[in-house]
Amino acid sequence: MPLVRLSYFLLHLISSVLYTEGKLVNITIDDTNGDPTTGEHFTYLGSAWNVGQNCTGCADRPDPLLVLDGTWHDATFNVQSTEMLEPNIPLNASVAFNGATLYVYCITDAAREHSYMTFYIDNELVGSYIQNKFEIVPFEYNVLVYQNQSINPGPHNFTLSNGKVNGAKALVLLDYVVYTSV
Ligand SMILES: *[C@@H]1O[C@H](CO)[C@@H](O)[C@H](O)[C@H]1NC(C)=O
Ligand SMILES: *[C@@H]1O[C@H](CO)[C@@H](O)[C@H](O)[C@H]1NC(C)=O
Ligand SMILES: *[C@@H]1O[C@H](CO)[C@@H](O)[C@H](O)[C@H]1NC(C)=O
Ligand SMILES: *[C@@H]1O[C@H](CO)[C@@H](O)[C@H](O)[C@H]1NC(C)=O
Ligand SMILES: *[C@@H]1O[C@H](CO)[C@@H](O)[C@H](O)[C@H]1NC(C)=O
Repeated sequence: MPLVRLSYFLLHLISSVLYTEGKLVNITIDDTNGDPTTGEHFTYLGSAWNVGQNCTGCADRPDPLLVLDGTWHDATFNVQSTEMLEPNIPLNASVAFNGATLYVYCITDAAREHSYMTFYIDNELVGSYIQNKFEIVPFEYNVLVYQNQSINPGPHNFTLSNGKVNGAKALVLLDYVVYTSV
């Protein structure tokens, strides 16, 4: 078993033990494999989303061994592009969770690409991660792009939206989110 998978497995084992004791427990929703406790999966809106690990045409190729489950979702927002079917439309990833905190983790490639993400809980704008590219930083992993420790406990929808209408070209590499279940 690869180390990443093993630690993921152990994390869930520990989580389920804590869960049965009724304590607060962190649950991870992988971009591809979803929430192991509820079966919820991310929904991706926009034709520019790619299954990162399977994408041969994607220019930004992180090391799968450093990515949770070896999976990620890749999308580039672009105001005008002959390659894109839907230019100038922000690209959204949404998932439902039942929790009181939320932590959102991406991979960034700041040496090559800008980041422009906005975050919504139940369709309310709650945060952003905006970073211009700078030349010398290579891939970074487990980048915490949004956190919220004061969510009304209960069922919610989360949406990550990549890009801004008429804004700069922006890349997102979504890896996973973590929430504290209630
Ligand atoms: C949940 O994860 C966050 C972020 O990694 C951490 O700060 C927090 O202590 C964790 N909470 C629990 C109950 O494990
Ligand atoms: C993503 O959400 C934004 C804001 O609600 C919306 O303007 C945009 O059209 C959505 N993108 C897609 C591809 O549905
Ligand atoms: C990625 O490719 C593999 C091998 O073709 C396939 O089994 C898997 O379903 C693909 N993953 C996704 C999320 O499409
Ligand atoms: C956290 O989420 C709540 C919605 O439950 C929202 O009202 C609040 O502004 C968010 N706080 C932060 C720091 O994002
Ligand atoms: C989440 O979004 C779905 C689809 O738009 C909707 O049916 C559901 O009521 C929403 N749930 C919450 C807690 O906002």
